[in-house]
Amino acid sequence: MPPKFFPTRGHLLVCQGQNCQARGSVLLSKALWNHLERASLAYYKQGGTLRLTESGCLGACSYGPTLCVYRHRGGELEEGWYAAVDFPLAAKVAQAVHEEAELPEDRKYGP
Ligand code: FES
Repeated sequence: MPPKFFPTRGHLLVCQGQNCQARGSVLLSKALWNHLERASLAYYKQGGTLRLTESGCLGACSYGPTLCVYRHRGGELEEGWYAAVDFPLAAKVAQAVHEEAELPEDRKYGP
């Protein structure tokens, strides 16, 4: 039997490379997980829609902690890249993805 599939609205990745860890990404990732759990935003919660993965280096080492998000919007794959991420910004990005709203512009870089 295949594993249970959980449909989601977006996938957040928080870098756990050495440079980002030196800038607090371990704590950031833990805090974000706790928040997704408590606010029932995590994909396995009732009504939850988000995935979160600790990633390897995302290629912006001097600007971490780095977070990126992928989601489908308007039939296209949208990506959001964030530098110098703290918990309030990470929670804001997560909420926007959950609500299918525009991604925050604060500290966003890339496309
Ligand atoms: S260590 Fe995080 S972007 Fe490289």
